[in-house]
Amino acid sequence: KQRLPVHVSHKDWHNFTREGDTGSVEGAPHSSDRGFTPKCEITGKDALSALARARTQQCQQEIANLVCLHLAGQLMPKSVQRQCQFTGKVNSGLTWEEPDVGALPPEKPLRVLYMLVVHGRAIRQLRRLIKAIYHQDHFYYIHVDQRSDYLHREVVQLAQSYENMRVTPWRMVTIWGGASLLTMYLRSMKDLLEMPDWPWDFFINLSATDYPTKTNEELILFLSKHRHKNFLKSHGRDNARFIKKQGLDRLFHECDSHMWRLGERQIPEGIVVDGGSDWFALTRNFVEYVTYTKDILVSELRQFYKYTLLPAESFFHTVLENSKACDSLVDNNLRVTNWNRKLGCRCQYKHIVDWCGCSPNDFKPQDVVRLQQLSRPTFFARKFESSVNQEVLDILDAHLFGELPSETPGLKGYWENVYDSIDQMGGLSDVTMTAYPAFTRLALRELQGSKKQPKQPYCRFTASGLPSSVELYFYDDHFQGYLVKQEVQSGETLEIWMMPQGSLKLSQQGGAIGRIQGLEVGTEWDPKERIFRNFGGLIGPLDEPVAVQKWSRGLNLTVTVVWIDPTYIIAASYDITVDMDADFTQYKPPLARPLRPGYWTVRLLRFWELLAEVRFLVVPLTVRNKEPLRKGDNWLHAGPSKGQYMEQNFQALSGILNLPPRVEAERDANHNSELLGKELEAWTDESLRSFWSVGGICTKDDSKSCPSLPKCSKTRWSSLSPDPKSELSPVTHDGRLR
Ligand code: UDX
Repeated sequence: KQRLPVHVSHKDWHNFTREGDTGSVEGAPHSSDRGFTPKCEITGKDALSALARARTQQCQQEIANLVCLHLAGQLMPKSVQRQCQFTGKVNSGLTWEEPDVGALPPEKPLRVLYMLVVHGRAIRQLRRLIKAIYHQDHFYYIHVDQRSDYLHREVVQLAQSYENMRVTPWRMVTIWGGASLLTMYLRSMKDLLEMPDWPWDFFINLSATDYPTKTNEELILFLSKHRHKNFLKSHGRDNARFIKKQGLDRLFHECDSHMWRLGERQIPEGIVVDGGSDWFALTRNFVEYVTYTKDILVSELRQFYKYTLLPAESFFHTVLENSKACDSLVDNNLRVTNWNRKLGCRCQYKHIVDWCGCSPNDFKPQDVVRLQQLSRPTFFARKFESSVNQEVLDILDAHLFGELPSETPGLKGYWENVYDSIDQMGGLSDVTMTAYPAFTRLALRELQGSKKQPKQPYCRFTASGLPSSVELYFYDDHFQGYLVKQEVQSGETLEIWMMPQGSLKLSQQGGAIGRIQGLEVGTEWDPKERIFRNFGGLIGPLDEPVAVQKWSRGLNLTVTVVWIDPTYIIAASYDITVDMDADFTQYKPPLARPLRPGYWTVRLLRFWELLAEVRFLVVPLTVRNKEPLRKGDNWLHAGPSKGQYMEQNFQALSGILNLPPRVEAERDANHNSELLGKELEAWTDESLRSFWSVGGICTKDDSKSCPSLPKCSKTRWSSLSPDPKSELSPVTHDGRLR
């Protein structure tokens, strides 16, 4: 039997702060132990830490080489000559008037190049964005993160319909905050200058989580008045503090899809570095300068920013402000960013970059006021995620284009793909590879023998292979479940809606105290949006679930959280203090794994009185490393060694918690843990059945064998039903898509 280690939190070297104090690794191994050859003696703490953590030998060698070059003073420019004829920062203040209603279009309207830099899977929102910003006179160049294959396939397909839309023929792994983001921009700019059939004037970048707040016409009117200006927003604080916070005085290197911090460096003399936002609007002239100039200013700065965290937030600012065109700067990026640093700066990227990065929050309807109270011109806002809130996009859309008729289909629905069989098993984990086919089995079984309907002998279907795709389905900004598309042996494609069954119980007593609003267990907790990104909450024995409590304001409290496994072992018990104004509390107990599959209970108690209780399922897996479970894999379902989830034993609490005797539950669990094949499948299905119900089944084409099945195109919840807000239609007579 295999024993998995209890979860250990990585300590010191994750302790990077935004102020940029050094992290540390105690006893990092000597680099020569690791199979690469350093060309000098490396003693710096950061460099040693990076070498100890880098996974591949190639990455370690790159790090070692760079550090040695840097130590020899051969990597970073020492001084760079400033070419701006003015001292200090030049910022042309623009006078901003609301555009006159009915203003005449400019005589020579300019043409915008929209550079869309996208990743993830939210194709419907991306289509919606394109629909909002599209005009036949402008151009659209799209880079899709090399890891986002599903999105890439969709984008390639949609770009085929429009002559003024292209997808980069190359792709990069553009990790968050990485040097590759700047490399990607510079390469795209070169591509775009070498497209003689695309005479664009302005370069505007957008991500898939951006949305316009004004129409294209208003943007063009504005830019036409300022056609020689470059719009770049600066941090607006003390520059020395910015440099420190941003880590500009540190050397970074990107490899193994990570930004490694390698040590300190000097800012080159002779220039002023600046930075702030990497969302900008740049003139073609400036893009040409950056791309083609032989000026040392640019080549040296390119070299400096090649080893910089979040380089696109500073490279263009610094080049422009030190170049001859320095007086073309306008300190405004024409966007509104929904910053809430208390939530957005939680070091959430420390597994990707050796630094604490921040992200803006998603807009919700209550944030829309931020778009209205502005003293500067803005045309876009970020961030928006339909899986978090779609209503706010409806508000913006209505403002930009007028309300859609309320009978428009699909208005409140949102669908986002989580699995596409073209990606084969790469897109599946053992838990989803277990659950998705189980969903199909449950639905097909219900279809052939549901109690509500008389038996329909012809509605017997057998799945052929794994589901072909799975989508998340939201309605009115609430998660509604999974939609599983499944080909069946008759050749038809069915879509199955699996609805989660809530299991939260808030007790009366909790109501009296009045603070507890919710208790949830899941994985992929997002502290910024305060949601579980694992929307469906599928949890397997090797996962590390988190329990989250939601509170309203009220008296300070101390509460106890107890985790009970399917055999009534008290896996964890801990206290949390809930401050007066705390709205969320959250803790991931370091449980030894594997977790026992089956129904777990988490209780929230105050003075041992129950405030709330929630159940969650640890899914019995039918596959291990994507292969059917075999005899040797039985440890996976047997719970942790000696039934001990933590060093401390909490079993003495079972009396006060009034738990039933363990004997029977343990006997069943031990029996189940040995199951394989069809019996295991039956256990998995049965377990899932208590947490998921079939919301509906539809068929893509008319079903000959089961005429009572509705057609998906006419089924409101189906991902195959019309969704005009996200569908791209042919270009209208006025050159737009809406
Ligand atoms: C913040 C800042 O606002 C942004 O300017 C900076 O570049 C990153 O940090 P945030 O919302 O955290 O923004 O970043 P995000 O929008 O997720 O990413 C920035 C860009 O990189 C986007 O265009 C995004 O699509 C792209 N990206 C990000 C990828 O291509 N792949 C990733 O894995 C992450």
